[in-house]
Amino acid sequence: MIITINNTQINALEGETILRAAHRNGMEVPALCYTPDHKHQSSCMICVVKNCQTGQMIPSCSTVTTDGMIIDSESDEVKDLRRQSLELLLSDHIAVCRPPCNINSCKLRQYAITYRAKWNRYPRYSAIKATQPQHIKDNFWFDVSKCIRCGLCVYNSTDGFTFKGRGFGMQVVLPNESVHNVDESLCQICPTQALYISHNEKL
Ligand code: SF4
Ligand code: FES
Repeated sequence: MIITINNTQINALEGETILRAAHRNGMEVPALCYTPDHKHQSSCMICVVKNCQTGQMIPSCSTVTTDGMIIDSESDEVKDLRRQSLELLLSDHIAVCRPPCNINSCKLRQYAITYRAKWNRYPRYSAIKATQPQHIKDNFWFDVSKCIRCGLCVYNSTDGFTFKGRGFGMQVVLPNESVHNVDESLCQICPTQALYISHNEKL
C-alpha cells in the first residue's frame, strides 16, 4: 500500500507500523521506548507524528499504516510535542551524565540536544537526586536515577524485571537474588544506560 510521509509517497507493508515503514524507507523518526526486535508499549511519545487526515497526534511505533494515510513527521507542531515529551522525561532524570555513560552518549541525551529540550522545564526536576547504582548480579548494574521507565527491560525480560507503582512513583523492580542468569543483553536496549555492565564496583 502507499502512504505519504512529509509529502513523499512510500510503500508500506501490510500490518506495518508507520515507524517501521518510515525507517525501512530511509526516513528518520526518533524513538526511545522502541527497538525493531523487542516487545514494547508506547510510553515515551518521542515517535509522535500527525495524521493529517484526522488531525490526531499518534505514536508511530504502534500505529499500523492504512492505505492512503497522510503523515507529517517533521513540522514544528510535531517537534514541539516531542520536545514536551522529552522535557517530561528529563524532569524525572538526573541532569549529569555519569559513568559508565560518556557525556551525551545515550539516546535520551542526544534527542534532548536535537529537540532543544530543557532539563528544568518542570519543577519536579529539582527534586531528582542521583542515587547509588544497585548491583543486580555479577557485573550488571542498575542506576534508577537514569531510568525513564520506558519498559523495554520489563517487557523483554524473562528474569523477573517488573514495574511497581504508578505515575512518577512507578519504578523498575529488579529480579530477586534467586535468579541465576540475568540477561545482560537488556543493557543494549536500555535507552539511557540505566542498566549497564561495569567491572568497577566503585561506580
Ligand atoms: S532500566 Fe532502561 S530499559 Fe528499563 S525501564 Fe528504565 S530506561 Fe527503560
Ligand atoms: S518510541 Fe513510540 S512511544 Fe516511545
